[in-house]
Amino acid sequence: MPVSNPDRIGDLLGATTNGVGCSSSRKEDEKPVSLTGEKLSAIAKLYDEKCASCHGDQGASNGPAAKALSKEPANFTDSKAMERTKEGELFWKIGKGRAPMPGYEAELSETDRWQLVRYVRYLTGRSQYRYLGVKRAR
Ligand code: HEC
Repeated sequence: MPVSNPDRIGDLLGATTNGVGCSSSRKEDEKPVSLTGEKLSAIAKLYDEKCASCHGDQGASNGPAAKALSKEPANFTDSKAMERTKEGELFWKIGKGRAPMPGYEAELSETDRWQLVRYVRYLTGRSQYRYLGVKRAR
């Protein structure tokens, strides 16, 4: 996925994660999510390498490998379904996997896996803004 302007994406991330219940209150902290700029680019790259083949680069469950799977990959742009899933569950699933998805416990650090949880939330939030045609969240 191209991350053309990490700063702007970072802004969006700060705003959208509130929308999907990832972070705490905005009142106390204008930038509740630390996954911005370079860090966001790095985790986007990791997602592109490891996850996008199935989940799709925007998380829409349409990666090139998705069709051949016995089960559809989770669709991160389905906000209703994603809102039902807690951070801890996402983290657990990324670690353990569930056929046909492999587990990443051995391959990726805990930090990477938590950041992927954030990134999944980010994709969910971003898809909502695109759907609504909102360019800037605030
Ligand atoms: C081989 C294809 C494939 C790859 C690669 C893959 N996934 Fe999945 N993923 C799936 C499938 C299929 C499911 C649905 C499994 C199920 O029904 O429980 C899934 C489910 C998930 C879920 C559960 C969502 C939910 O709401 O329960 C998360 C989170 C997830 N994947 C994240 C990732 C991340 C992050 C990566 C990269 C590190 C990744 N996946 C790589 C196929 C894949």
